[in-house]
Amino acid sequence: MPGVATTPGTLDLMTTDLAPLRAAVRTWFDQHARDLPWRRPGTGAWAVLVSEIMLQQTPVARVEPAWRAWMERWPTPADLAAAPAADVLRAWDRLGYPRRALRLQECARSITAQHGGRVPDTEEELLALPGIGAYTAAAVAAFAYGRRAVVLDTNVRRVLGRALEGRALPSPTLSRAERERAGGYLPADTGDDAASVRWNIGLMELGALVCTARSPRCAQCPLVSGCAWHAAGRPADEHAGRRRRQAWHGTDRQVRGRIMAHLRARPDDAWSDGHELLVAGADGADPAALADPAQPARALASLVDDGLVVAGASGSYRLP
Ligand code: ADE
Repeated sequence: MPGVATTPGTLDLMTTDLAPLRAAVRTWFDQHARDLPWRRPGTGAWAVLVSEIMLQQTPVARVEPAWRAWMERWPTPADLAAAPAADVLRAWDRLGYPRRALRLQECARSITAQHGGRVPDTEEELLALPGIGAYTAAAVAAFAYGRRAVVLDTNVRRVLGRALEGRALPSPTLSRAERERAGGYLPADTGDDAASVRWNIGLMELGALVCTARSPRCAQCPLVSGCAWHAAGRPADEHAGRRRRQAWHGTDRQVRGRIMAHLRARPDDAWSDGHELLVAGADGADPAALADPAQPARALASLVDDGLVVAGASGSYRLP
């Protein structure tokens, strides 16, 4: 409904004049954004890239100290490229999904070998790096290099989906139509003013702090007067039945986490006996006594498959 009349003080998100909407996001961000270290001026592209990989599946509070320690230890891609994989996995520690650590190291090696150690600045080149998907390529291009890019993480998708379409949560898969619509709202950059970067980071922060998945604070939202979801009475998530819950307790992921924690605590060259790892996976219990007695062995085998654990002779294991 382009051009719908609105009362003064309300935002019209469907009009072609998007200046008030952008101003609202920008003002809100300037007043409420968190002071996160990777957003500070002068943060290098490698540091931004590392932060984006860490933040993908781990909350900011856990990422912050890990990111600081990581950047101190491996300030450049070449530093990380040369590190022993076991050190990389130990430093990743409890961020979860440790395959990301190995992918990040592969990415560092590729940047070192193919780009002279400098993180590339176009989305296309970034996308070609190992472990870098559409979101990360856009985020690094935007936040490290100030480029105009459609940055669509789950926070941004939720804000736009609610405000523009009245959907509680974005669909499980990102469609081309959704990407194009988001692109239509992305400001043009004029002169030195990276309006698109502010728009991207503003929507992301709004999604993280106000327009949250579970307890949105609509009363504090700068877009509430124009939000389609709010106007419709905040209808429920239409995809609820199709969503996979990221359970943790009792899952193979939890068992994998215990085995990795056990191996990280061992000295570099020490091999661990397989049975000892299965007991660690069972949290100290006899694996045979578990409801699913095959679970620890399955978890260990999957870690070996993923290259996170190396199998040696006669049933012994260690970090790569
Ligand atoms: N700032 C830039 N990218 C971010 C992200 N992915 N999460 C939180 N803050 C960010």
